[in-house]
Amino acid sequence: MCILVTGGAGFIGSNFILEWLSLCDEPVLNIDKLTYAGNLYNLASLAIDQRHTFVKLDISDYTVILKLLADHKVRAVVNFAAESHVDRSIHGPEDFIQTNIVGTFRLLEAMRTYWKGLADSEKTSFRFLHVSTDEVYGSLGVDAPPFREDNRYNPNSPYSASKASSDHLVHAYHHTYGLPALITNCSNNYGPYQFPEKLIPLSIHNALAGTPLPIYGDGQQIRDWLYVKDHCTAIQMVLKYGRVGETYNIGGAAEKANLEVVRTICDILDKENPKAGGGSYKEQIAFVKDRPGHDRRYAIDHGKIGREIGWEPTESFTTGIRKTVRWYLANQKWVAEVTSGAYLEWIEKHYIA
Ligand code: NAD
Ligand code: TYD
Repeated sequence: MCILVTGGAGFIGSNFILEWLSLCDEPVLNIDKLTYAGNLYNLASLAIDQRHTFVKLDISDYTVILKLLADHKVRAVVNFAAESHVDRSIHGPEDFIQTNIVGTFRLLEAMRTYWKGLADSEKTSFRFLHVSTDEVYGSLGVDAPPFREDNRYNPNSPYSASKASSDHLVHAYHHTYGLPALITNCSNNYGPYQFPEKLIPLSIHNALAGTPLPIYGDGQQIRDWLYVKDHCTAIQMVLKYGRVGETYNIGGAAEKANLEVVRTICDILDKENPKAGGGSYKEQIAFVKDRPGHDRRYAIDHGKIGREIGWEPTESFTTGIRKTVRWYLANQKWVAEVTSGAYLEWIEKHYIA
């Protein structure tokens, strides 16, 4: 038996696999298309670990996935694979439709065929966990209560609309065919191995490179921030204890305005890595044109997963962001490989025959 992780070379997927294999010996089959966001360098420590099998594959490949499910006797699937960056979805939505909607549909079809053929006891214990985002709920007013699982879907960007579509498909496959599926909707993650296009790693990288720290609009947009390891623990717990057919919201109880996030990063860097010529990294903050259709606020009520499953975030934003900045400072080689594109050569050499 083993678990299948899709998108396991991405930011959250690779953290999840590293965490999983640090806690147990159940093998992981990792399928990932290795888009620009897929970086097997994150999993370098597992390069010769028999418990980790990597297959370069698109989640849309119904035939190969069906064969892999049977060959590896997969008992559970965690679906991370997606196009995940809002700005990219605004510039070019096509890949988001293909992977997040069509890809999830094909993956679900492979799952349905495989699951139907299982023995009764295996059918009952099988799980399909779809990892989604709080962005499907749309934008909150300043005083509105945080998102709960029964909030109306109201996605505003091509990214969130494509994730909302995939959530609806997963729900429909449970409701119509009985596929034992669960959905998690999570707030903004941060931590090790995040591609430096998202706000936190981009700000750390640009600060150290001496380039501007772009703040969209007035910088007062609010996000809830969750340390990635807390997210990985939540997913493991939902997989084990979650009720089939249910949705669980996951958040860090850490609402922050973007400008505050970037200023906090600068404060930490000022202490941990003072600028050579003196002064503060805050001097690099630059207000730029706002993102079109920019959602003003996201916030998560994680009461349900707390009550039903006993999960709570362990990192506050203060502890999590300090760990994150320190990780990037200590892993400048990783950042350099990613920003130069050298990680693609590493993947060729180590994983692709
Ligand atoms: P990421 O962009 O870092 O990684 C995505 C991974 O999926 C990459 O390794 C990429 O190569 C792979 N992939 C893309 N298209 C594929 C395809 N067609 N077939 C197979 N693999 C494919 O994303 P992430 O930040 O790790 O997010 C993982 C999941 O969590 C996504 O579904 C995302 O919507 C969701 N999520 C992310 C956040 C966040 O803050 N990062 C928050 C909530 C939910
Ligand atoms: P991002 O990390 O792209 O995540 P998401 O859009 O999924 O929330 O952005 C987080 C917030 O930071 C979002 O409100 C957009 C803003 N932002 C900036 O102000 N400057 C930047 O350079 C980036 C990448 C994001």
